[in-house]
Amino acid sequence: MTLLPLPPSASTMAPRVDALFYAITATTVAVAIAVFVALIYFGVRYRAGNPVPRHEDIAEAQRRARIRVELAWTLIPLFLFLCAFAWAARLYVDRGTPPAGAMAIDVVAKQWMWEFQHADGRREINELHVPRGQPVNLVMTSQDVIHSLFVPAFRVKQDVLPGRYTDLWFTATEAGRYHLFCAEYCGTDHAGMGSGDVVVMEPAEFERWLASGARAPSAAMRGEALFRALGCSGCHGANAAVHAPNLAGLYGKPVPLSDGSTTVADERYLHDSILQPHKEIAAGYAPIMPSFAGRIGEDDVFDLIAYIRTFSAAKKK
Ligand code: CUA
Repeated sequence: MTLLPLPPSASTMAPRVDALFYAITATTVAVAIAVFVALIYFGVRYRAGNPVPRHEDIAEAQRRARIRVELAWTLIPLFLFLCAFAWAARLYVDRGTPPAGAMAIDVVAKQWMWEFQHADGRREINELHVPRGQPVNLVMTSQDVIHSLFVPAFRVKQDVLPGRYTDLWFTATEAGRYHLFCAEYCGTDHAGMGSGDVVVMEPAEFERWLASGARAPSAAMRGEALFRALGCSGCHGANAAVHAPNLAGLYGKPVPLSDGSTTVADERYLHDSILQPHKEIAAGYAPIMPSFAGRIGEDDVFDLIAYIRTFSAAKKK
């Protein structure tokens, strides 16, 4: 049901966002109507020459009414605004908290395209296939400038920033094809980044689609090849000559830094350690690692992180 010309509604978030939108619109319309009705009513009733009771002492009457009027027009809108705030804040928090077990898909934005990579290594450009009814979490970064991923039918939008990972999650509720936009002006062909689609498929159909793709090496496999090709294994390997942190079991663990603080070895930390290795030095190690900024792309960083993650999984077993 759409009272206003909204885009189709195809995610679990969409009806919730619409409900808030309708509630705020309805409140605004109700207040506007009340103001105009009062305006017209008083204008007609108290027009010059109309025999209605009028206070002799205007100043006195105003003094008596003032407190009540001031309180009413302060407290009622305040209450309405706080309701809208609490409602919207709840949606905002839910929108920003991917459910546990959401299917992770890596996203690299670059001038001027979207690159998606599924966990099994299948890659897509400007088109994203997802199963219906399953939470999907897009882990996104940009290779150049700020982009913003926007799927109107899902009512979700999130900026994609260089040098940082942002999340965008959704659960699609209707199979179909939905427009995918870049909603941040990012250069000459910004408009071309609006030509993508999210394709929502039935889960079984999605499995078939995923299996039908040319067997690409998985992200972790590509990461392993890169790890050797870039020479990472020369220092971070088991019997390396250089004193460098051992990466086995590192992912997700707290890391003491040389400045005395502690961070967690998450995607953000690993990403920065590869591209800006001198930003956070692990305690007890010399800042000798070369930076790989400009040498490898954000998609390569995703692959390396996927590979580093497998160390922890292997170690836990
Ligand atoms: Cu990317 Cu606009």
